[in-house]
Amino acid sequence: MTEKNLYHRHLVSMEDLSPDDVLQILQTAEVMKGVSEREVKKTPTLRGRTIINFFAEPSTRTRTSFEIAGKRLSADVINISASGSSLSKGESLKDMSHNFNAMNPDLLVVRHSKAGAPAQIAKWTGRLVVNAGDGRHEHPTQSLLDLMTIRDKKGSLDGLKVSIIGDIANSRVARSNLISMRKMGMSVTACGPATMLPVQIGRMADHVTTSLEEAVEGADIIMMLRIQTERLERTVFPNVREYARLFGLNSERMKKAKKNVLVLHPGPINQGIEISPDVVAGPWSVILDQVTNGVAVRMAVLYLLLGGGLNQS
Ligand code: CP
Repeated sequence: MTEKNLYHRHLVSMEDLSPDDVLQILQTAEVMKGVSEREVKKTPTLRGRTIINFFAEPSTRTRTSFEIAGKRLSADVINISASGSSLSKGESLKDMSHNFNAMNPDLLVVRHSKAGAPAQIAKWTGRLVVNAGDGRHEHPTQSLLDLMTIRDKKGSLDGLKVSIIGDIANSRVARSNLISMRKMGMSVTACGPATMLPVQIGRMADHVTTSLEEAVEGADIIMMLRIQTERLERTVFPNVREYARLFGLNSERMKKAKKNVLVLHPGPINQGIEISPDVVAGPWSVILDQVTNGVAVRMAVLYLLLGGGLNQS
């Protein structure tokens, strides 16, 4: 396994990565975490490289961490949102992509509400593209930071039992993790109301249940998901109170969980709906570790895709 494995490849889907690729990113991310813990949090490795972060959907964690990641690697980082771009004046995504291209960036980070937009921008521009979340499709760097968090706490990934709970049909985080976790030898249970499970879930997960209690019991990892109201096309549950009653994780329900279980949530959290404040703040919660690891993973991805530190002759 060499640093060149990932050099000049897109990261659009977790299908793009082999288990060795994932391990290489996670190992590199551990080194990058060390950079973030120094007093001077910067390395010159991507000096002279230009990264455009194009976020056409709201974001707190992903956008901030990609910006921090690029800057800690000394790249020139430009952030642009849909509302602050000429898309708001009627410019098409294709025209905008060609205009980005004309400014000779090295890599584009793209978040968009339409599944497939990052792959399409990669085709139009021929530039390296990292998917920062596209519609219901995928969010690969979120999955990588989830894997890093679990591996840090558990020592390895192979053989662990994960329960992903909530609005799976509308979640790109669930989709990326269903691919990557099974690829890394983990067993994944999908849990949610039947109306929030995709029709193909039987092929995507190792086990499917509509019982929260069943999903909690025996899991090494519990990953809670927000209801993706921005992507709901119809009413899929009676009301929020009913959803919280049946599918909200609270400390009472945590009594059924393993003692050393980890609770993850990609954020943003709707406290009191899918997860109660005492679980968010409880000893199982690694939710803020996920955020810390998001910077490290994104530094690793940018570094490996752009060949930072390599003699590329
Ligand atoms: N997890 C995640 O993608 O959060 P943001 O939407 O804040 O980036």
